Amino acid sequence: MAHNLLQGKKGIIFGALDSNSIAWKTAERCVQEGAQIVLTNAPIALRMGELNKLAEACNAPVIAADATNMDDLNNLFTKSMEHFGGKIDFVLHSIGMSVNVRKGKPYTDLDYDFFHKGLDISAMSLHRVLQTAYKLDAINDWGSVVALTYIAAQRVFLDYGDMADAKSMLESISRSFGYHYGVKKKVRINTISQSPTKTTAGSGVKGFDGFMSYAEKMSPLGNATADQCADYTVTLFSDYTRMVTMQNLFHDGGFSFTGISQQVADQMEK
Ligand SMILES: NC(=O)c1ccc[n+]([C@@H]2O[C@H](COP(=O)([O-])OP(=O)(O)OC[C@H]3O[C@@H](n4cnc5c(N)ncnc54)[C@H](O)[C@@H]3O)[C@@H](O)[C@H]2O)c1
Repeated sequence: MAHNLLQGKKGIIFGALDSNSIAWKTAERCVQEGAQIVLTNAPIALRMGELNKLAEACNAPVIAADATNMDDLNNLFTKSMEHFGGKIDFVLHSIGMSVNVRKGKPYTDLDYDFFHKGLDISAMSLHRVLQTAYKLDAINDWGSVVALTYIAAQRVFLDYGDMADAKSMLESISRSFGYHYGVKKKVRINTISQSPTKTTAGSGVKGFDGFMSYAEKMSPLGNATADQCADYTVTLFSDYTRMVTMQNLFHDGGFSFTGISQQVADQMEK
């Protein structure tokens, strides 16, 4: 199912850790659709060695960058432009981590150093990426940036903890920068709010299986998979969505607008 939607386009993909990662699937789909890509992740993630397999399959260089480090980001964009011999057309921000969630800290007993770190990695990093690209004028007119988010930014989901606050900030940055980048360069910036998906980051949330099966039962179409998220992202990188910007786009099988489903109602009767 390839339509050359990204023929001739060049992009940077953040956040492929292993073959379950949403970024991994997206990298594969982008290349199938004709794009050339650069893969990047934090140095610690690269040491796990998995990313080299994807790099080989996608014929893509890997450039290490901690998304909280401005020197790393400057180096990444500069080297990527050298590699492509010109500017970039799309960027995927698929990065998230909360130390508080990882360590099982309840929302009413957060460690603020961990909170800072989580906000920097999961939200401020999008601003850092955009500001770096903006100052280097690294993205072509009508380029597209997508960041991944979760509906806990709008509604309370138990045990998502301070990641909910990080996602709210991420979505806000996407809107605010979307304005400035749109006016200056016609670059569009959106977030995709994805269904719960079994990945390393997803499974780090306590009670994740319950989350997933609840969402599955509440969504008329069922949960969206990582592969389907990759398909949707490709459309946002393509020229078919040129006037879409500053949006938070739900990719969740209808979960976000369902009050109660038959399956959940039946269970409540028991
Ligand atoms: N899995 C889900 O249920 C789900 C649902 C909605 C949204 N999301 C979001 O999708 C995105 C991708 O997560 P995933 O589920 O594919 O899990 P994942 O664990 O495969 O990906 C998270 C990535 O973030 C990277 N990362 C962490 N710290 C970093 C840093 N300092 N610099 C650069 N990269 C760093 C990790 O190395 C990893 O590759 C995240 O933003 C996540 O919150 C996930």
